[in-house]
Amino acid sequence: MAEPRFDSVPEVREGLKKVDYLSDEGIAGIVYLADRLQKPILVEGPAGTGKTQLAKSVAEMMGARLIRLQCYEGLDESKALYEWNYKKQLLRIQAAGKQDDSGSDEWDALSGDIFSDDFLLTRPLLEAITADDPVVLLIDEVDRVEVETEALLLEILSDYTVSIPELGTIEAKQIPMVFLTSNNTRELSEALKRRCLYLHVDYPDLEREKEIVLTKVPDITESLADQVARIVRSIRNLELKKSPSVSETLDWARTLLLLGVNQIDAETARSTINILLKYQSDITKALRELEDAKSDMAKDTVAAPSS
Ligand SMILES: Nc1ncnc2c1ncn2[C@@H]1O[C@H](COP(=O)(O)OP(=O)(O)O)[C@@H](O)[C@H]1O
Ligand SMILES: [Mg+2]
Repeated sequence: MAEPRFDSVPEVREGLKKVDYLSDEGIAGIVYLADRLQKPILVEGPAGTGKTQLAKSVAEMMGARLIRLQCYEGLDESKALYEWNYKKQLLRIQAAGKQDDSGSDEWDALSGDIFSDDFLLTRPLLEAITADDPVVLLIDEVDRVEVETEALLLEILSDYTVSIPELGTIEAKQIPMVFLTSNNTRELSEALKRRCLYLHVDYPDLEREKEIVLTKVPDITESLADQVARIVRSIRNLELKKSPSVSETLDWARTLLLLGVNQIDAETARSTINILLKYQSDITKALRELEDAKSDMAKDTVAAPSS
């Protein structure tokens, strides 16, 4: 087994913070365990909650190269694992054909030649397995691939070997740190889930979201970051078609900063809420809620006993 890379959960948490990723006990704990147990992490949760960023930040923290396999419908072995460079092979065959009439010996030599490393197009999975340097493999949005491709992924994540009929079996030089992310558009197979450590990433709590804002929008004031985090949180409590994600929180904070806003009043909220919410029905709901919250607060102020 390879040397573990981290000594403790707090060390992971600190390390991530240094590369501007604000984790919590749960996230840091799973990263720590994955390293110890050499198991892939399956990260599930709503869009825009920092799943992809987690893999990137772990790579940065470890000083490792990030190899990303972006999944999509129709992704197959030739784009995920390897394929032969037919064009180059053809050119090689044509070049050989020009040199006199080759006998069968030459043909054997030629086929050995065109099915060699030089003619192999390495795709992300094979690249991660054959890497000499430390790598983090990110299999992003795995819920988008078909079941057959999922089975291929499972096979590779089970024994970290790839068998290429013309070349033989290639064994991993090291077991890379692997992240699979899913936006939960479909259930993944039990077998794949069993193979992985499971991490559910949800919207951050108030304190962590405020910290994320302060980290990613460095010029913002503490008080504005606090208001942004509080308002987003209250909006997320509503029944919405699409709750605002962390990336939308960050967009909103940047917008307010650009507009020179110090205090979010009703007018500012109305004119900028489209950064946060993308459905008119959600916008209407949120604005109504903010109005109510404001008048409640006003009532409280009036009702507060004068001392
Ligand atoms: N915990 C966090 N710490 C720092 N930045 C975060 C965090 N969570 C989300 N972000 C930021 O939010 C944005 C969206 O994150 P992303 O990883 O793309 O989301 P997902 O992959 O879950 O859809 C990124 O710009 C990322 O930097
Ligand atoms: Mg993502």
